[in-house]
Amino acid sequence: MSQIVIHDKTFIPLIKNEEIQKAVSKIALTINEQYKNETPIFVGVLSGVFMFFSDFLKNYPGKCEVSFLKLSSYDGTQSTGNVTTELDISTDITNRHVIILEDIVDTGNTLEKLYQLLKNKPVKSLKVASLFLKPDVFKKDFQIDYVGICIPNKFVVGYGLDYNGLGRNYTNLYQLKED
Ligand code: IMP
Repeated sequence: MSQIVIHDKTFIPLIKNEEIQKAVSKIALTINEQYKNETPIFVGVLSGVFMFFSDFLKNYPGKCEVSFLKLSSYDGTQSTGNVTTELDISTDITNRHVIILEDIVDTGNTLEKLYQLLKNKPVKSLKVASLFLKPDVFKKDFQIDYVGICIPNKFVVGYGLDYNGLGRNYTNLYQLKED
């Protein structure tokens, strides 16, 4: 793994795809163990989740349905704190076990907005799985039920995550190189 340049910034390797795959498989099998007699709906938060979502489903052996919604809060390498909904859940989640899949939880603003959107819906249960978590930044008082890998408070790209639209296609995870 060598460093990459995206737009005006250089990124250095942080986590290899092999390690990411192990974390993804562990989350999928843990969730399956807990929902093996149910048909949960996995709701992917686009766009960054697409790679995690795909690998997660390939590792999930049980019955399940999928749905997506799109929220955005990032401008460049900074969270704006202002989360907007760009697409609503299209599937009827009434009386269903819903598990939100997030690529990364940073400030938790996105998840907070999602909880607000879903809190009045009559779901059977609501849980959250995030592949990456920045624990030094996340200070909200709600729970993230399944976490793949905790990472430092650095801006990262790859494995679905972008810097101003680029970098989502790298299969490894890279962190911003500080000057
Ligand atoms: P939060 O609302 O601050 O928790 O951020 C959540 C969303 O911001 C994620 O779903 C990502 O789309 C984006 N994001 C957060 N941290 C990063 C990062 O380090 N690189 C790229 N996107 C990020």
